[in-house]
Amino acid sequence: MMSNIIRTKNLIHDYPKCDEDGNVIGSYRALDDVNIEIEQGSFVAVLGHNGSGKSTFAKHLNAILYPTEGCVWVNGYDTSAEEDVWNVRQSAGMVFQNPDNQIIGTVVEEDVAFGPENMGVKTKEIWDRVNYALNAVRMNAYREHSPNKLSGGQKQRVAIAGVVAMRPKCIILDEPTAMLDPVGRKEVISTIKHLNKTEGITVILITHYMDEVIDADRVYVMNNAKVEMQGTPREIFSNVEKLKEIGLDVPQVTELAYELRKRGISMRDGILTIDEFVEEYGRLVK
Ligand SMILES: Nc1ncnc2c1ncn2[C@@H]1O[C@H](COP(=O)(O)OP(=O)(O)OP(=O)(O)O)[C@@H](O)[C@H]1O
Ligand SMILES: [Mg+2]
Repeated sequence: MMSNIIRTKNLIHDYPKCDEDGNVIGSYRALDDVNIEIEQGSFVAVLGHNGSGKSTFAKHLNAILYPTEGCVWVNGYDTSAEEDVWNVRQSAGMVFQNPDNQIIGTVVEEDVAFGPENMGVKTKEIWDRVNYALNAVRMNAYREHSPNKLSGGQKQRVAIAGVVAMRPKCIILDEPTAMLDPVGRKEVISTIKHLNKTEGITVILITHYMDEVIDADRVYVMNNAKVEMQGTPREIFSNVEKLKEIGLDVPQVTELAYELRKRGISMRDGILTIDEFVEEYGRLVK
């Protein structure tokens, strides 16, 4: 049977709207009737333009925010049940945009140990976990280094290791590559895919970069506080017009195929990679 690590039912989130004196004068709806089911072990991407509600959604999965209405379950725990907050946070770890805000240790291995230490894990097991986590993000060679001397991508991998050391079933990454150079981005995305495929950790990746979405099992597109589209990457990127309407880009080759099709060349829908493009192009010129 399919098991869902995350489920939301009619999730609504309203932020209070205040005047200059701090009086609440109304509310702003940042999530509007969001219904999502995420299968254990899957790799899910969330897209959406600025302000569409992605980070608000992410914060619900870690019990940083609670539903105004509706429900969120993480690993079977209702996030609004106070007694389960730590179960929720241990089931679903969060990684944010800026690695500098997430790293506290002065040595890499200390930083990674911090989470399990705080959870009260026994010393010997802490070091097993640190080993496991640093191997999983391929940063074991740097375990005795100082984090401030690492590149952005390496720092972000250490931050991810800190979450992995808590042994979560699911990791939510909120634009983890937004502050990285192309090399750092590649490192971090390949690390995330490795955690998903090899370690079986469910991944929810919020991103602005279309090329990071291509290998996802499922994509959710948010627009104005709602989930506007959902499907496989191929299904989502077959709908170039709608994505443009929402203010989103598509992968470059998808765009090229789309433009050629508009000019009367019978390229098929939903081309996602250069290889697919080349194959389709070869078919056409034959
Ligand atoms: N603490 C807050 N108080 C009031 N409004 C907020 C708060 N946080 C976010 N919002 C508003 O809620 C909406 C959704 O914000 P959110 O941060 O979830 O969007 P996002 O999709 O993550 O955007 P971005 O791509 O810029 O990160 C925005 O209009 C934002 O201004
Ligand atoms: Mg955000």
